[in-house]
Amino acid sequence: MLLEESGEPTYRSQKDGKIDLLTNRRFQRYHSECHVCHGPEGVGSTYAPALTDSLKTMNYDDFVAVVSSGRVVQTPGGADSVMPALGDNKNVMCYLDGIYTYLKGRSDGVIPRGRPAGKDPKPAALGEAENDCLAG
Ligand code: HEC
Repeated sequence: MLLEESGEPTYRSQKDGKIDLLTNRRFQRYHSECHVCHGPEGVGSTYAPALTDSLKTMNYDDFVAVVSSGRVVQTPGGADSVMPALGDNKNVMCYLDGIYTYLKGRSDGVIPRGRPAGKDPKPAALGEAENDCLAG
């Protein structure tokens, strides 16, 4: 995972400025874990906000905090608006930096809608880190 000077993960490859491999792959994770509520490619739904808008102002730490701990907001209509706490869900947490960079790239208008092009093989080190996280 590439890091900005701030320590936040970024979708840009430092070498050539292209969108990095991990970000491309996290398109799929977003779609398996978040799409059902937050809509395709982060555009939002009647039920949950557009994360492409949220990340225009929300920073990385706040993003991780909301996803880990969830949030319940009462609405005037009576039904609570519930973001589930996903901190125990390894299929989310082991991939969260990549989900973040994918959404951040969408929010910045750098990553287009649709399935990202390019199918580079997954680097061995990345596969190992993921397996350790999933097993740990
Ligand atoms: C069961 C539906 C559901 C799922 C699944 C879900 N969310 Fe949410 N999420 C919500 C709702 C509803 C809210 C709005 C909560 C509120 O009213 O503050 C929300 C809020 C958020 C926010 C805060 C947005 C803001 O503008 O303050 C973030 C960030 C977020 N979700 C990220 C994610 C990510 C990343 C995933 C997948 C790993 C995910 N959510 C999966 C329903 C869901």
